Amino acid sequence: MSYNLLKGKRGIVFGALNEQSIAWKVVERAVEEGAEVVLTNTPVALRIGATQKLADQCGTIVVPADATSVEDLQNLVDKTLEYFGGKIDFVLHSVGMSPNVRKNFPYSALDYNNFSKTIDISALSFHKLLQVLYEKDAMAEYGSVVALSYIAAQRTVEGYSDMAEAKAMLESIARSFGAVYGREHKVRVNTVSQSPTLTTAGQGIAGMSDMYAFTEEMSPLGNASAEECADYIVTLFSDLTRKVTMQNLYHDGGYSSMGISASVIEAFKKGRE
Ligand SMILES: NC(=O)c1ccc[n+]([C@@H]2O[C@H](COP(=O)([O-])OP(=O)(O)OC[C@H]3O[C@@H](n4cnc5c(N)ncnc54)[C@H](O)[C@@H]3O)[C@@H](O)[C@H]2O)c1
Repeated sequence: MSYNLLKGKRGIVFGALNEQSIAWKVVERAVEEGAEVVLTNTPVALRIGATQKLADQCGTIVVPADATSVEDLQNLVDKTLEYFGGKIDFVLHSVGMSPNVRKNFPYSALDYNNFSKTIDISALSFHKLLQVLYEKDAMAEYGSVVALSYIAAQRTVEGYSDMAEAKAMLESIARSFGAVYGREHKVRVNTVSQSPTLTTAGQGIAGMSDMYAFTEEMSPLGNASAEECADYIVTLFSDLTRKVTMQNLYHDGGYSSMGISASVIEAFKKGRE
């Protein structure tokens, strides 16, 4: 159902690799709500993924960009401003990757070149993006920039490895840049901390299916799906949340406030018997 929440708004969405991607669902919902969206992903992802298919579906363009490259980000923002013929109302940073996770390095034996890449791709890229938008004065007043995070930024989730450090930095960047951007240009910057979701990136985490089942059991409302995440992000792009900034917003069915759940204790007891 459409509420026309984003009528006349224009944005950039990173990370719509395939139909499972959270970003893919965000693009579909944003367009349904009346937005125009420019899509971007790395050249490799554009070759192996289905981003172009989504762009065709939405009647829009794809601008290739590696989010770690300031030059690529500058080109992306220039092309988007030109395409829209005006400023940008929202941006979704839906970007994450850890070579240490991908190559199964244990947390106590991390490769530091990989660690640097994890931080660059999954956290520093958010600062680079914000700085490029800021320098080009590309965002409209009360524009909204959102990045996706995960609760491993606050609490240890074994298997999430150096992505935990990246997410902690990502959330910190949202606060620090949000202060500058809010004061000087009235632009909002937030992170959404999403439930485990069965996407390409999600399934790269060791033990993901058990983790998914555990958080499903722990969360009073159950895990939040990618579609539900898109609904929430649409509200953050809309004018209904104009004074929400510098926040890490949990979208996790209540998981982040739980300590122990009766049903998980029950399952644990059965396992011990
Ligand atoms: N899936 C989950 O369980 C979950 C939970 C919480 C947060 N998140 C976060 O959500 C975001 C989106 O992930 P997803 O689950 O939709 O998986 P996904 O694999 O569909 O999306 C990840 C995207 O990051 C892109 N990417 C990787 N390196 C890049 C680079 N250098 N430059 C630009 N783009 C690059 C990939 O091409 C891909 O499109 C990530 O930040 C992820 O950490 C995911």
